[in-house]
Amino acid sequence: MFSIKGVTLKREGSVIFENLDLTIKAGEKIVLLGVNGSGKSTLLKLLNGLVFAQSGELFFEDIALSKKTLKEKTTNEYFRKSVGLVFQNIDAMLFNPSVYDEIAYAPRQLGFDDIDARVRNYAELFGLTPYLQSVPFKLSGGQKQKIALACVMSLSPKVLLLDEPTSALDPASTAKFLEMVRALEITIITATHNLTIAPMLGERVIILDENGKIIYDGKSESAYEIDLLKRAGLII
Ligand SMILES: Nc1ncnc2c1ncn2[C@@H]1O[C@H](COP(=O)(O)OP(=O)(O)OP(=O)(O)O)[C@@H](O)[C@H]1O
Ligand SMILES: [Mg+2]
Repeated sequence: MFSIKGVTLKREGSVIFENLDLTIKAGEKIVLLGVNGSGKSTLLKLLNGLVFAQSGELFFEDIALSKKTLKEKTTNEYFRKSVGLVFQNIDAMLFNPSVYDEIAYAPRQLGFDDIDARVRNYAELFGLTPYLQSVPFKLSGGQKQKIALACVMSLSPKVLLLDEPTSALDPASTAKFLEMVRALEITIITATHNLTIAPMLGERVIILDENGKIIYDGKSESAYEIDLLKRAGLII
């Protein structure tokens, strides 16, 4: 689904990833761990075609992701329909006058023909039906996080990239979210600091060290060892 080969990515002069290799297969559920600044959000943005590497290769299916290829209309639409990212900073995603318009925005842009049904279905799934006419930025942090999830889900993507998706959710909403992730038969990559829910988010775990280097990529069973988590700086 994704293939990253020898990717080096710098932002404002500092190296975030150096010679990064990573392969992600269709249907995998992956948990991405790492301390603040290790590069989790940058990796998700790279996979979403929002930041680009200085060198190396990055493919989604047979599309080489670059500014140039994503300028091509058909490729761009296919990629945007296929891969959805829920930002860590939700406020950066919400700009429409109502929750309805917010969820409808991307399906409208991408020319879906069942927009109303999609909006209502995903609003209901995330308990947002009573707020469809509310102004998104006036809602609570958790409600905004649910809107962002509904927005991305409304495209029925092949890949969900989730950046700290439960940081604002209450316990019951987190439990529902975990159920949803487990039930979806698509590729899901979740960056999280929440080590309590991490084992429920995926059977493959990728741990970045503070320099953006992958220090673990393997099964969930052996990912949460104390020594490894200490080495990643995630526990003291
Ligand atoms: N817009 C940006 N411009 C320049 N550098 C950036 C930008 N965003 C992030 N960085 C840098 O990239 C590095 C990785 O940041 P990133 O946000 O990917 O980390 P993270 O693992 O998601 O951290 P957190 O756990 O705090 O969310 C950091 O050193 C950060 O300073
Ligand atoms: Mg982040």
